Amino acid sequence: MKLFIDTADVQEIRDAASLGLLDGVTTNPTLVARVGRPMREVLTEICEIVSGPVSGEVLATTYDEMLVEARELASIAPNIVVKIPLIADGLRAVKTLTQEGIKTNVTLCFSPIQAMLAAKAGATYISPFVGRLDDVGHEGMELVDQILEIYGNYEVDTQVLVASVRSPNHVLTAMRMGADVATIPFNVIGQLIKHPLTDVGLARFIEDGRKIKQEA
Ligand code: E4P
Repeated sequence: MKLFIDTADVQEIRDAASLGLLDGVTTNPTLVARVGRPMREVLTEICEIVSGPVSGEVLATTYDEMLVEARELASIAPNIVVKIPLIADGLRAVKTLTQEGIKTNVTLCFSPIQAMLAAKAGATYISPFVGRLDDVGHEGMELVDQILEIYGNYEVDTQVLVASVRSPNHVLTAMRMGADVATIPFNVIGQLIKHPLTDVGLARFIEDGRKIKQEA
């Protein structure tokens, strides 16, 4: 499974990339607003750090305006993936952009039928928002399971990108289900690495290692 980081914070991206395990980046308008920098500037810098797919989202909500913005975003770097909201104009835009060879990530997906429509439009990625579904009392990962089942039925090429990840458990379940990608906030990437028994075991090895040096 590919691991993306879900942030517009360039330092977080540098730190995650230094692990050597980072396959790509997703951003959204909220994440870009949080760092207080213009969208184009941030995406340009991110694409200099990461060679894998970097998602940047359009702000427009009408077909014509989305196309203008999408083409502008795609001109930033060859690895830009344009994020388009899952609305009627968005699906139309995805169809056109796909014909132009521009990669798309259809965002704000909350139902398996929406996911199938995005695939029919030619989306490169579909982003089911699992954490936001959990927040309103649904089982977010159930949506991912249903999308994978439906895509499997029709041998769909669209990649399932698990988004709105809140915990290592989301990542584990995504891996077990065979999702293509999980996009993960920086703090959760840290949680994936750590295990208390690793820390306890290492402390013991360090302590015993000192004894070996003393004996030598
Ligand atoms: C995905 O691409 C989105 O940027 C993101 O995962 C949304 O997560 P949130 O629900 O934590 O805002």
